[in-house]
Amino acid sequence: MSGISIDGKTKLYGVIGNPVKHSFSPRMHSTAFQLLGINAVYLPFHIITEQLPNLLNAFTITGVQGFNITLPHKENIVPYLDLLSNDAEVLQSVNTVIKTETGWKGYNTDGSGFIRSLSDADISIRGRKVLIVGAGGAARSIAVALAREGVADMIILNRTSSKAESLATLLHDISSGISVKTGYTQGDHPDIVINTTSVGMKGNQCPIPDEIVLDCDQIIDIIYNPSQTPLLKKAEERSIPYLNGLDMLLYQGVEAFEIWTGQTAPIAAMRESLIASIYG
Ligand code: ATR
Repeated sequence: MSGISIDGKTKLYGVIGNPVKHSFSPRMHSTAFQLLGINAVYLPFHIITEQLPNLLNAFTITGVQGFNITLPHKENIVPYLDLLSNDAEVLQSVNTVIKTETGWKGYNTDGSGFIRSLSDADISIRGRKVLIVGAGGAARSIAVALAREGVADMIILNRTSSKAESLATLLHDISSGISVKTGYTQGDHPDIVINTTSVGMKGNQCPIPDEIVLDCDQIIDIIYNPSQTPLLKKAEERSIPYLNGLDMLLYQGVEAFEIWTGQTAPIAAMRESLIASIYG
């Protein structure tokens, strides 16, 4: 790997969040820049909500070319951007920003990254029935991307039913052909079940009752740490194919990298970097 020697032409990228110091993105993107010999660095920026109104001015002055956004700013950044991609507009949520000739443009690569992780794992979704657990930011990105990719039926299950209803309305608005319902009924038999909640990150909790686990053909948990959540352990015990969230994390970064550089991202090296950072 060729190292980067910082000079007057080095470009600056980063991630904003609060907290941000545990982010895996600086190492992943730095690895990618180095491997492709791109003269750029990627840094974490601890930004509090009160600083957002001045942030883009500060980034313009200091020459930042692009940045990622993590919690809790994905929605709050939107009013300050000049342009939004279609997905970012629909979701009103942004995780990737690039400086363009016409201003700062926001994208949301969480959903498209998720779709790429499925295609990498040979999981087909067109025409299938998908049950999503959760209705927060991650669920919305994933559900919108799945609807655009031709999922036929969607079931949304959430602790707070009003949020499930609001996601169902959004899906109907963007896709006329899709059938959406909230709440699981015995025998629904979804092809794919996706956990988007944080349940399973700590302890032995499983976000999905056994009857649903037993009623599907594929289980996806977007949690990547631990690599095998209690839900995925159940899937393994019952010989149900499963996927964790590592590749979703990877591909949202891959897509951001490609938006910034216009180059094909070094996916294998980025994955290795993530694995070393998270599980190493
Ligand atoms: P993210 O951006 O990661 O999606 P979020 O927008 O805060 O985070 O959404 C978290 C999702 O996980 C929500 O659907 C939340 O349910 P509520 O809408 O009822 O709050 C769900 N969630 C979080 N903790 C949960 C728990 N202990 N049990 C069930 N659902 C939970």
